[in-house]
Amino acid sequence: MRCAEYCEVVANRPVATNQLEIEIHCPTVALHAQPGQFVQMRVQSGYEPLFSRPFSVFRRFPERGNFSVVYLARGTFTRMLAAKKPGETVFVVGPLGNRFSLRQPANEILHVLVAGGVGAPPLYLLAEEMVQQGIPRHRIVVVNGARRQDLLVCQEHFAELGVHLWAVTEDGSLGERGKVTDVLKSLHRRGELPHDHCQIYACGPTAMLEAVAQFAHKHHLRCQVSMETLMPCGLGVCLGCAVKVRTPQGTDYKRACVDGPIFDATEVVWK
Ligand SMILES: Cc1cc2nc3c(=O)[nH]c(=O)nc-3n(C[C@H](O)[C@H](O)[C@H](O)COP(=O)(O)OP(=O)(O)OC[C@H]3O[C@@H](n4cnc5c(N)ncnc54)[C@H](O)[C@@H]3O)c2cc1C
Ligand code: FES
Repeated sequence: MRCAEYCEVVANRPVATNQLEIEIHCPTVALHAQPGQFVQMRVQSGYEPLFSRPFSVFRRFPERGNFSVVYLARGTFTRMLAAKKPGETVFVVGPLGNRFSLRQPANEILHVLVAGGVGAPPLYLLAEEMVQQGIPRHRIVVVNGARRQDLLVCQEHFAELGVHLWAVTEDGSLGERGKVTDVLKSLHRRGELPHDHCQIYACGPTAMLEAVAQFAHKHHLRCQVSMETLMPCGLGVCLGCAVKVRTPQGTDYKRACVDGPIFDATEVVWK
């Protein structure tokens, strides 16, 4: 089930430096969005910006028919989104794309969720689903990274879920100093990432995804990544979101918007 309609903005509040959470009234997305799925949004009244943009679903409030996304106000589109006031509308198409899949038997797996910056929101939805499904909280590890403390998002939401939570900042202003892969390395050194009973889910900038994928490959760990590509249409039509993938015959391209955005990390050709 999918919507394509003008939806009312319910709230648009700051959550970190230059980052806001926008809550939108859209019962279809509120009821049906799955962890890792996204919506395409359009904000303009004229032609600029021409293309819609994809945003991962962060929270769902089915009882009041709302969902929210967290976004970084960095360019033309997201600054226009930041200016939206409650009562105004945005055009929403979604939910779109595939979802993170839970490895079975989910209760016996160590689930390691690795987030970079605004990659955290879809992983929060995944962690929430895991807790609701009764996966023991000690089997859910979240490594939440950002350049600085003031750029870290969703930290308190993960904390409220009671999962095993690491904060990582490159300048050491909160939690561990370094990158998300440094935490993965120390967990691995301590024997806490059993290769046959572990699943990594990663969402963040492409360089981070590649580093996590390399780490997973080196240590024979299963890993799913959410690819952040340009997505002009989000509907499989324009081919603007191509991701190079391995095939038995060599390489090929898949569309991140309909074949993804979640891919098995071993499938992606990173360079
Ligand atoms: C599946 C998916 C989920 C995403 N979820 C989020 C999210 O939850 N929160 C969030 O802040 N951002 C998310 N993004 C990125 C978001 O769609 C925007 O691309 C980004 O916020 C750029 O904002 P802008 O247009 O204001 O900036 P611009 O100044 O227009 O662009 C800034 C950067 O965004 C890239 N960009 C421009 N157009 C697009 C486009 N159509 N699609 C993708 N990237 C583009 C440019 O290459 C540039 O590097 C997601 C992207 C994907 C593919
Ligand atoms: S964004 Fe147009 S085909 Fe994927």
